[in-house]
Amino acid sequence: MKDLQFTTKVFLRSRALRPKTVLNFSLQSRTAALCWPMMFGGHAAAPAQTKGNMSSCTDSPGGPGVSRRGFLKGVGVSTAATGLLAAVKPLAEAAQNESGLLGPGEFSLTLQVNGQSRPLKVEPRVTLLDALRNRLDVTGPKKVCDRGTCGACTVLLDGKPVYSCSMLAVEAQGRAVTTVEGLGTPEKMNAVQAAFVKHDAQQCGFCTPGFVTAATAFVRNHPNASVDQICAGLGGNLCRCGTYAGMLLAVADAAKKGAA
Ligand code: FES
Ligand code: FES
Repeated sequence: MKDLQFTTKVFLRSRALRPKTVLNFSLQSRTAALCWPMMFGGHAAAPAQTKGNMSSCTDSPGGPGVSRRGFLKGVGVSTAATGLLAAVKPLAEAAQNESGLLGPGEFSLTLQVNGQSRPLKVEPRVTLLDALRNRLDVTGPKKVCDRGTCGACTVLLDGKPVYSCSMLAVEAQGRAVTTVEGLGTPEKMNAVQAAFVKHDAQQCGFCTPGFVTAATAFVRNHPNASVDQICAGLGGNLCRCGTYAGMLLAVADAAKKGAA
């Protein structure tokens, strides 16, 4: 019964949508004669030859409107597309599991941040900076240029300063990430942090976490550094307020003490 209703609908729809000028009498008669058994006898009862004729008799190549064949093709294509879409996801997931590929959706990873294991879910395209700030609420590293120019996002990766805006969170898996929060606390600051306070080495303070982090790595590797060495060592960080004199004094002071 459902088949009959569907066929009737398709037939009536194709008739209704076709401009009258396109339908000539002989075609109508032929269509009606050939469609009759299919409409009232059901698909299963229609002889093979009739089915073949059906597809040719209702087609109108090059003509305007929606032909029965076009409509059925559309139904077939959309059904196939729906089926394909349903099949694509499990296939993609299977491929991901087998090949080790990630994404495009979120996946689980664990970052070692300031000595703590921090599980999170991110898409593979997420930068370390965004993962820290937006997913783990570690907001010491700042997002300023977001293109590896200013150094406001500097963190230590296994002790080395990197721009966290310019690497992916997934690349930091299994490595020690240290942000300015992990260098010291207000009660127990490291040598560079204490020197920044002592020399009042900030104005708006937006660049300060990046400078303190980069300077900490620099001082660890360059005890008793000269002014020229400090300038070169901190060349990857910019201060838009121009607080360089105070920062230079602070880093020189920390470097003199030889520890951070
Ligand atoms: S925000 Fe990363 S270098 Fe500027
Ligand atoms: S203190 Fe304002 S940007 Fe450096």
